[in-house]
Amino acid sequence: MAPLIYFVLTALVAGVVVAQSSEDLLSCGSAMYYPSQYTCFDDDFLCPIINGDINLRCGDACYSTSQYSCSNDTLVSYDPNGPETLEDCGDAQFYPDQYVCLDGDFLCPFIDGNATLRCGDACYPPSQYKYVSAISLV
Ligand SMILES: *[C@@H]1O[C@H](CO)[C@@H](O)[C@H](O)[C@H]1NC(C)=O
Ligand SMILES: *[C@@H]1O[C@H](CO)[C@@H](O)[C@H](O)[C@H]1NC(C)=O
Repeated sequence: MAPLIYFVLTALVAGVVVAQSSEDLLSCGSAMYYPSQYTCFDDDFLCPIINGDINLRCGDACYSTSQYSCSNDTLVSYDPNGPETLEDCGDAQFYPDQYVCLDGDFLCPFIDGNATLRCGDACYPPSQYKYVSAISLV
């Protein structure tokens, strides 16, 4: 049995190495991260992706759009089943089921239920992040 066990362990270890090296580490300020696990905001602030839920930055916090919205860089609790309330985003106002307020004054819309993220003066769906970053490298 010993040779068989050795083989299985080797295969498991090899699998882990392959799985990790298939995704490139990116830098966010002085930190390194896997884009499947974190999102980098403003080039220096990481927020986690928890069970596919991309948490967004709000001031110095990270939040889930299913529980909070962010108005002027301040967290506001959000009830998806409650009445619609307008919130401030800098000089603009928004409904938290339709937009997210980034950097305290920049609105990005939800598309098909997913928040989009800021890239300069544009918003992009994070499911196409690699596509967008490839364009910005060109
Ligand atoms: C949000 O910021 C804008 C612009 O600075 C300000 O007019 C507004 O009163 C702020 N709203 C809140 C709730 O702080
Ligand atoms: C919304 O998010 C889900 C889960 O991450 C993903 O499968 C889907 O492709 C996203 N839709 C859009 C339009 O990005």
